[in-house]
Amino acid sequence: MQNITAIILAAGKGVRMKSALPKVLHKLCGKPLIYYIIKEIKKAGIKRIIVIVGQQSEVVKEAVADLFEGIEFIEQKKLLGTANALDQTKNNLKKEDNILVLPGDTPLITAATLKRLIAARKQDNSCTLLSAYLSFPRGYGRIIRRDKKIIEIKEERDVSSGEKKIKEVNSGVYLFKTRPLFRALSQITPDNKKREYYLTDIISLFARQDLKIDSVLIFENETLGINTREELARAEKIMQKRILEKLFKKGISVIDPATTYISEEVKIGVDTTIYPSTFIEGNVKIGRNCQIGPFAHIRGDCLIGDNVIIGNFVEIVRCKIRDNCRIKHHSYLGDCLLGEGVNIGAGTVVANYDGKRKNQTIIGENVFIGSGTILVAPLRIGKGAITGAGSVILKNRDVPAGTTVAGVPAHLI
Ligand code: UD1
Ligand code: MG
Repeated sequence: MQNITAIILAAGKGVRMKSALPKVLHKLCGKPLIYYIIKEIKKAGIKRIIVIVGQQSEVVKEAVADLFEGIEFIEQKKLLGTANALDQTKNNLKKEDNILVLPGDTPLITAATLKRLIAARKQDNSCTLLSAYLSFPRGYGRIIRRDKKIIEIKEERDVSSGEKKIKEVNSGVYLFKTRPLFRALSQITPDNKKREYYLTDIISLFARQDLKIDSVLIFENETLGINTREELARAEKIMQKRILEKLFKKGISVIDPATTYISEEVKIGVDTTIYPSTFIEGNVKIGRNCQIGPFAHIRGDCLIGDNVIIGNFVEIVRCKIRDNCRIKHHSYLGDCLLGEGVNIGAGTVVANYDGKRKNQTIIGENVFIGSGTILVAPLRIGKGAITGAGSVILKNRDVPAGTTVAGVPAHLI
């Protein structure tokens, strides 16, 4: 992929989100919006990525640098519009470059589409853009054509009532040639209702100079720009569906996709079944032939073996759980290591947090934890030990292998 630099416009305020958080950091299936865009750009084979930051720039930079290495940042000091944002890069690009521009708020765009755009670009195109036909085009810039040729993009605010009916919209993703781009950027004026420098005005400038503009049509969903909380919720459903479709293909059953939330980095083994109203988020790996849920919540950093049952109203975080364990009802386990074949009785709670730090509980293989046991960490329960129903095992009162303890506080019986 010779000489393509991707530029993500992510400096805007995100006013319509009504949020203290910069828009591109709002979460979609557990990850910031901008994460998906960068991931797909990389997947399309583009090496150089520049993010334009402005609103809370330090926060955005830090979040992106946490997720990816080697991303460049350029600051837009005053948020004067998308054309002004792109203009900030003019000293950082070589004349022979091609520039792929993407808004920071369209997380559903895919690498396959970006590749299609790149493949469709003809040498003499000054701009090749992605457009889509939407049944409800409201809010998007409309593509205005004359004799099939694109001559202008008009923002919703600036279109006439006739033009409002145009269903072909601008996705905000464009592939530009560098030279004509920066020449035209300097000619854009804030001559519109919002008094902003609109990148979309570049299209009429190009058309008037007879520079070639082409378009590639994409699927409706991929254009979704997240400007409001409602659009964020819509994107969540679409992204979740994509994640679950990948799991189906790998041989995992999800009983009710509508109430199942699995973040994209989660790995699940073949023949595992996820029951309804279950959340699995963060760095989680689940083995083969497990049953998870209904109403289970598996949070970050969990490694779960094969043939494990995690049942109703169970919450698990930062646990390693070996094969054949059962945690079937109403339990909380945090910072635990469970050996093979452990049975955790209904209503078991691990008190892992002492108000200052999170402490570990190590439970040996084939341990039987009686219903309603409270395990105060740090704690070790030896192999094959048993705790009686309702026991409270105090911290550091390790239970030797093969023994039975019961009572409050628990003692050997
Ligand atoms: C923009 C397009 C519109 C298109 C839509 C697709 C313009 C003028 N309009 O509208 O034609 O249909 O995207 O989703 O480009 N940004 C900056 N600096 C600024 C202003 C914005 O970096 O000064 C960034 C924002 O952070 C955002 C992106 O540019 O990620 C797009 O801005 P946004 O306000 O969402 O534009 P839309 O109204 O959605
Ligand atoms: Mg937008």
